[in-house]
Amino acid sequence: IDITNLRTATKGVITIDPGYKNTGSCESGVTFLDGEQGILRYRGYSIEELAEKADFLEVAYLLIFGELPTKEQNDKFHEDIKAEAVVDEDVKKIVESFPKSAHPMGVIASLTSALTAFNPSSVNVDSEEDMYRAIVKILGKFPVLVAWTLRKKQGLPLDYGDDSLGYVENILKMMFKKPNKEYTQNKVLVNALDKLLILHADHEQNCSTSTVRIVGSSHAGLFASLSAGISALWGPLHGGANQAVLEMLEAIKNDGGDTKKYMAKAKDKNDPFRLMGFGHRVYKNFDPRARIIKKAADEVLGDLGVQDPILDIAKGLEKEALEDAYFVDRKLYPNVDFYSGIIYRAMGIPTDMFTVMFALGRLPGWIAQWREMRLRKEPIGRPRQIYIGATERKFVPVDER
Ligand code: ACO
Repeated sequence: IDITNLRTATKGVITIDPGYKNTGSCESGVTFLDGEQGILRYRGYSIEELAEKADFLEVAYLLIFGELPTKEQNDKFHEDIKAEAVVDEDVKKIVESFPKSAHPMGVIASLTSALTAFNPSSVNVDSEEDMYRAIVKILGKFPVLVAWTLRKKQGLPLDYGDDSLGYVENILKMMFKKPNKEYTQNKVLVNALDKLLILHADHEQNCSTSTVRIVGSSHAGLFASLSAGISALWGPLHGGANQAVLEMLEAIKNDGGDTKKYMAKAKDKNDPFRLMGFGHRVYKNFDPRARIIKKAADEVLGDLGVQDPILDIAKGLEKEALEDAYFVDRKLYPNVDFYSGIIYRAMGIPTDMFTVMFALGRLPGWIAQWREMRLRKEPIGRPRQIYIGATERKFVPVDER
């Protein structure tokens, strides 16, 4: 079947598949995922190998442009991104105007959208050259916005980064540098964040990525499409799960640490409680990212000398779930977000910033999928429906109803 003419080929038959559990929305060469076997590859390279050997910007280049960069391409990519690591001074006024209590995901989605106003040339991007310019712009500016989102909450000045540093080192310094104090890089944190960003960098047609593609399919600009993706990521059933996991672990700790009680709640169909960080739409085996992250969490906490009772509760829950028929039968294993929050917390990142860190990691994946969709000249995304409302009826004026 020619899938571009599926509707003609199927004589107007509409398939209905709520949640798109079995419906492919596109053909893609970015990320391969085998949920049954727990395999994840970016452009053919295993996630395990990339997490061990590559750095985040190399992975970003790979995802977006399809190949690992040569030394020259890598250097140019870094330089082009560094040149864009400033934002219009007026954006500071927007950051300052948010209430301190604003959720960082709402702030970062708004700021990403606001960037379109300050960078109008990035809106209509038709050529590959225009796309490249928009891509390095957002990769340069987004970490500044992330750091400012955190700094505003903490009442710290909105400073720029240090262009003598690597991408991830610079992000950490921009986030944590205190006024009039030297900032010393901690290699353990740099490596852990680099790894976390790589693990989050793409995951084929998940909720936020599908959102970016569908918004971009109307030829809305890159930044507007990304802002929509950030909003989709915010929800606790998607990226917001990392915040929800930590809040759940805290709640269990404050309630006396009885993991069995919460296991029972998660299995009770009359109780809306779900074990956050467990289960995945596609992985019906272990999430390969969770395996890498679990090891990284042990290393980071060990290296930093952190004794965190939250980690013991997490390990307890995981052990019980792996031995529990309810979880085993439904193939509910810890997902990437089960352990990421523990690392972010050890790094000193506030809980409500966790999903922003996820967005920072997912940025190259969203960009890669958006670019692929535009280069393949995909049609506008426009699902159909099965109408279940009233049949035709006559209008009744308001005083006769
Ligand atoms: N705790 C308890 N039961 C669960 C959980 C959970 N975390 N997840 C799924 N189930 C149960 C469901 O109640 C359902 O049971 P039933 O068959 O008896 O009705 C069965 O497992 C299948 O679950 P669905 O909700 O149908 O699976 P779906 O693929 O739609 O949802 C999701 C996947 C949203 C990830 C779900 O597992 C969930 O809510 N997990 C917790 C939130 C979470 O961790 N999200 C992060 C996902 S990873 C990411 O976005 C980066």
